[in-house]
Amino acid sequence: MKDILQELETRREQARAGGGQKRIDSQHAKGKLTARERIELLLDEGSFEEFDMFVAHRCTEFGMQENRPYGDGVVTGWGTINGRMVYVFSQDFTVFGGSLSETHAQKICKIMDMAMQNGAPVIGINDSGGARIQEGVASLAGYAEVFQRNIEASGVIPQISVIMGPCAGGAVYSPAMTDFIFMVKDSSYMFVTGPDVVKTVTNEHVTAEELGGAITHTKKSSVADGAFENDVEALTEVRRLVDFLPLSNREKAPVRPFFDAPGRVENSLDTLIPENANTPYDMKELIHKVADEGDFYEIQAEYAKNMITGFIRLEGQTVGVVANQPMVLAGCLDIDSSRKAARFVRFCDCFEIPILTLVDVPGFLPGTSQEYNGVIKHGAKLLFAYGEATVPKVTVITRKAYGGAYDVMASKHLRSDFNYAWPTAEIAVMGAKGATEILYRSELGDPEKIAERAKNYEDRFANPFVAAERGFIDEVIMPHSTRRRVSRAFAALRQKKRSMPWKKHDNIPL
Ligand code: HXC
Repeated sequence: MKDILQELETRREQARAGGGQKRIDSQHAKGKLTARERIELLLDEGSFEEFDMFVAHRCTEFGMQENRPYGDGVVTGWGTINGRMVYVFSQDFTVFGGSLSETHAQKICKIMDMAMQNGAPVIGINDSGGARIQEGVASLAGYAEVFQRNIEASGVIPQISVIMGPCAGGAVYSPAMTDFIFMVKDSSYMFVTGPDVVKTVTNEHVTAEELGGAITHTKKSSVADGAFENDVEALTEVRRLVDFLPLSNREKAPVRPFFDAPGRVENSLDTLIPENANTPYDMKELIHKVADEGDFYEIQAEYAKNMITGFIRLEGQTVGVVANQPMVLAGCLDIDSSRKAARFVRFCDCFEIPILTLVDVPGFLPGTSQEYNGVIKHGAKLLFAYGEATVPKVTVITRKAYGGAYDVMASKHLRSDFNYAWPTAEIAVMGAKGATEILYRSELGDPEKIAERAKNYEDRFANPFVAAERGFIDEVIMPHSTRRRVSRAFAALRQKKRSMPWKKHDNIPL
């Protein structure tokens, strides 16, 4: 019996050794942790239960039958994050570069199937050279099986991808179909084809970092949602994110203890809006002052900064926040900000997370670049996303809500439940200057007259009361009481039930 137990221990040690000490040292030398070290950091201590530790590939080409390491380049299983169950796979770069074989794919598919059946998120730690070249079409088939599960799991369980090494080919397309992608600066890359292929095909000289590094994907392409300094920080942030999310679409997000009075008054908000309507202010100040304990988990912080998206808690309950940022492009809507916010709204709606929208928007950004690149279609995404979202929706207009952007930003007409405005709100088709120049074009030569016309327009329209007269604004509220009003609104909506007409699925403009 002792020998039998010893044999198990020996085999386990072999599996844990991955691709050997030399490759582990090389992984560490690059500032990267190993697949198992990452799982340990991600999950609650001692909670990891491994599956398929002894799986080995079946490839016989290229002399592969001589090299069949246990685990086949991926560690899979389940564990807990702050006591809540998650499934996890972590690719081991020390074994064939973390590349995906038929059996490696089967291990990932097994935990994805279990996660869907049991209603728990999947966290994928990706560190992989893509399809295993020696296996040919078998590895492509393996990837496609993973892709299909990513699609089926979308909207059923949260899927989070952490990119922790050079990821190419299938290793980027699977994460691309998940809900959130986090990257590590200077040690993780995502590209369909690497710098060498780019050079051969297009004659462009580009480094891996420039082509697909964390900064590129969080600032330029918007493929990734967050960039972190190292593996430890990235995994810690995944734990924080998971705490905001429900385990599946069958459950609500967890309610956490809170140590902040829901009725907390913030007098400083009464002076947040500058006297001059064209002076910017930081919308994040409002978000922090509304949130429980000022805690805000921002998503895509570095991309389309004219729009802010992220999670807060109100009375311990998760709320998704979408807010215009007047500090950047005056907070106007454009292609990038519409896409960013639309995807976030749809995530919240999938997982029954209520949405708070904070509005200060002068309209859509005009120009050929926007029109040529399809602002009509991309702006429509946000309109569509808000209109189809059936979760509790609460909107606060702090200052401008002009034109189409007023409609788009969770207006009453898109079935928002509570629509509040601060007394500083200006709800109109456009600003006074633009409006008078169109309405009184024949008087443009007379600056005094035009100024008077603009003043009259402002007096009549630059306020929330015209909209409030029609019931499009439910109540004009004091800025200092925003946290209390919004918390009470969401509390009143906890049993909300609303559904859309039956359909196979919608056809959101893509
Ligand atoms: C088999 C692979 C591999 C792969 C890396 N390795 N990628 N083995 N299949 N796809 C192995 C290497 O042979 C090496 O083995 C070890 O992993 C480490 O690789 P290095 O090249 O030494 O590491 P590094 O210099 O850090 O470069 C990492 C890399 C590079 C950028 C990932 O290896 C690379 O470009 N690999 C190929 C990427 C690729 O084109 N994949 C196919 C994608 S197609 P030893 O034994 O020396 O340690 C695809 C299609 C899916 O995925 C469908 C999409 C829709």
